Amino acid sequence: MIDGNKVLFSGMQATGNLTLGNYLGALKNWVTLSDEYQCFYSVVDLHSITVRQDPAELRKRARNLLTLYIAAGLDPEKNCIYYQSHVSGHAELAWILNCFTYMGELNRMTQYKDKAAKHADNINAGLFTYPVLMAADILLYQADVVPVGKDQMQHLEITRDIAQRFNAIYGDVFTIPEPYIGKSGASIKSLQNPDKKMSKSDENPNGSIYLMDDEDTIMRKFKRAVTDSEGCVRYNEEQAGIHNLIDIYCACTGKMPQEVEHEFDGRGYGDFKTAVGEAVVSILKPLQARFEELSKDKGYIDGIIKANAEKAGYYASKTLRKVQKKVGFPEKIR
Ligand code: TYM
Repeated sequence: MIDGNKVLFSGMQATGNLTLGNYLGALKNWVTLSDEYQCFYSVVDLHSITVRQDPAELRKRARNLLTLYIAAGLDPEKNCIYYQSHVSGHAELAWILNCFTYMGELNRMTQYKDKAAKHADNINAGLFTYPVLMAADILLYQADVVPVGKDQMQHLEITRDIAQRFNAIYGDVFTIPEPYIGKSGASIKSLQNPDKKMSKSDENPNGSIYLMDDEDTIMRKFKRAVTDSEGCVRYNEEQAGIHNLIDIYCACTGKMPQEVEHEFDGRGYGDFKTAVGEAVVSILKPLQARFEELSKDKGYIDGIIKANAEKAGYYASKTLRKVQKKVGFPEKIR
């Protein structure tokens, strides 16, 4: 609790170009929830270096991501929007939690297995302990709720396990966080292969809608989206491509799948794909315009970066001091 409010924490990596999956699965819900909670939204740049990055590019992407959080509608005066690397407590708590996490648990993480397969020449220890850093992010702010897409559920579960283990030894130190998964949009799939999630690192750019794609590109990608030969807009698992398009449409319009089936009853896939494309454009266009406008205001963004790093640091150090004391580190002499 901070000032009587429950706490929300979430973050995104500044690697690759953000996709519609990131927006519908996470960012959109962050905005909806931001009134109800005391929120911390981090650009998790420490996580990014588990895969090799070009330094200048990483810095640029991190700033763009932070700007995008604000462009999406998060008020930086109310929500703490900051770079993870500006608060050293993340790394410090991660070390301590490493000592309360088992190799076997980390070995089971599917994201680790996927990434290790993709980057076989660089299976570093950071990639392996990535979920512990994520647990540290969340527990450092005593978060009650963590809005994420479905692909992050396993990481949320291990966070809860680590927190419960620590609490069982030292008393009530950490709040046990609950995941928040949105009703629609929690698992957006590739437009070219609806069995795979829409991902920043997809080699086929037609599979993903990037948040900065222009209108023509968005409409073209939806026109090319893989469907099936059934020819009817029905929300069932067998029609994976259409299922995904309905999910996207629902997440953008707030409609329910049954309403969408009804709306497109007797109409072809062409009509439906156009409608989905238009719904996405109507969300992304204002977001892009706001992003462009904010990007020009260097002083404003710099001010937010400075103020929010201090604010995040303040809350992080409160938890960290408590944890350091519990595990037996000597107090600093001031
Ligand atoms: P990242 O950067 O891969 O993704 C950011 C958020 O977007 C969601 N997401 C999706 N949702 C629906 N459909 C998709 N296709 C899709 N792709 C991505 C993710 O679930 C996520 O919510 N490890 C995290 C970042 C992180 C974090 C944290 C998150 C670090 N520390 C603490 C929450 C709390 C990650 O790599 O997300």
